[in-house]
Amino acid sequence: MSENYDIVVIGGGPGGYVCAIRAAQLGLKVACVEKRGALGGTCLNVGCIPSKALLHSSHLFEEADKHFDTHGIEINTPKVNLAKMMARKDKVVDSNVKGIEFLFKKNKVTYVKGAGEIVSATEVKVALLDGGEETLNAKNIVIATGSEVTPLPGVEIDEKQIVSSTGALELSSVPRKLVVIGAGVIGLELGSVWRRLGSDVTVIEYLDRILPGMDGELAKQTQRIFAKQGLDFKLGHKVTGAKTAKGGVKLSVEPSKGGDAEEIKADVVLVAIGRRPFVTGLGLDKLGVELDDRGRVKTDEYFQTNIQGIFAVGDAIAGPMLAHKAEEDGVALAEMIAGEAGHVDYGKVPGVVYTWPEVASVGKTEEQLKDEGVDYSVGKFPFTANARAKAMESTEGFVKILEDKKTHRVVGCHIVGPAAGDLIAEVVLAMEYGASAEDIARTCHAHPALGESVKEAAMAADGRAIHM
Ligand code: NAI
Repeated sequence: MSENYDIVVIGGGPGGYVCAIRAAQLGLKVACVEKRGALGGTCLNVGCIPSKALLHSSHLFEEADKHFDTHGIEINTPKVNLAKMMARKDKVVDSNVKGIEFLFKKNKVTYVKGAGEIVSATEVKVALLDGGEETLNAKNIVIATGSEVTPLPGVEIDEKQIVSSTGALELSSVPRKLVVIGAGVIGLELGSVWRRLGSDVTVIEYLDRILPGMDGELAKQTQRIFAKQGLDFKLGHKVTGAKTAKGGVKLSVEPSKGGDAEEIKADVVLVAIGRRPFVTGLGLDKLGVELDDRGRVKTDEYFQTNIQGIFAVGDAIAGPMLAHKAEEDGVALAEMIAGEAGHVDYGKVPGVVYTWPEVASVGKTEEQLKDEGVDYSVGKFPFTANARAKAMESTEGFVKILEDKKTHRVVGCHIVGPAAGDLIAEVVLAMEYGASAEDIARTCHAHPALGESVKEAAMAADGRAIHM
């Protein structure tokens, strides 16, 4: 049996499902092939969403455990019911998965449950989850197969004692000692979850800084805040091997630049050293679809591979490996296939670490601007001077806005502080419209709100912040 489609999307994550829905909205006949048995991809099933559910629950626990007293709320010592916390997380995931299934029905996207393989530029063969095979004929094929955990040689993931982010979202008890390998986004988010729930957490990072790629000053301040919260950082070190036994894991750790090895023990080890594109089993080599030197599917500005009619989006291609970037790719591609214009500016994709306080960033860092020889001004405003942050007892951090002195355009913004992930949206919009710091500064912001810190930072770029 074979069906004809305008587009067959392989992968039902944020890149794939959003592309499928947008294309269907534009009148195209679309099928989306997904082998997980649930839509939403890594992000919804074993990534962004379950981690945010646990981040929120563990934040509430920490508030109750350590900070209620400050607000004049007296309670008995709170306790964690981990099974219940995990069940709530699973419910959040499940309801979102059902939401996408509903959207597929609403938009008449055909959902094909199985593993897709591209057998020609117009055919996708699906090994159906229920058994059997189906071939889908497609005018256009979209690879949206995402990414997988980058393995660390010598440290084999068993998802029990040595876990990836997937296993770290499913632990059945709070480990006494958790070692996180990698001080990137996953390491800091999940390290924070388990620290709040009672683990003693050490984060081992190869580089001599956390959050590589983010603004240096932002990363330094963030590290200070997290260290104060109780995360122990071992920077400039690498893990070269792991031995698991019943009692726990023994890690061999060395200075990154060479030196004496030491042994670090842990009950659980989380490997969070990055992700790599996942394109296995798609038949790409047989077809001759080109990959780049990092294993990503090579695409042109229209998301097209070297084979006409085969496209790719999201984590499987170049650009930041983020769910919202994948969604933007998916929408732009769907619109282009439907004959409209589409474009995604990877220079204006915000990045957020959903800890407390949150960390958010968009555009250029100070290091990048210096490297590029751009003359820029800095406007910085601390949350200690924001009335709302004071009322919330959440005054750690700052907003930093960077403006190009020549063009007077905002070229970057870096925030660590309460709700940073929401505050950054205003600056992303400003940058999309080529706004200056003065444009943000002259925009009326509600008082008392955290967003006033963004306005004040923009004013500070002109040397005229009022509350500092
Ligand atoms: P990452 O790239 O953010 O961080 C990995 C860290 O591991 C880096 O600091 C790197 O220097 C370090 N590292 C690499 N090899 C090492 C070694 N052998 N020993 C010690 N440290 C080592 O990767 P992460 O945290 O695994 O996240 C994967 C992807 O998922 C990223 O692209 C991230 O942006 C995305 N993600 C995004 C989230 C968000 O937007 N909130 C949440 C979680 C993941």
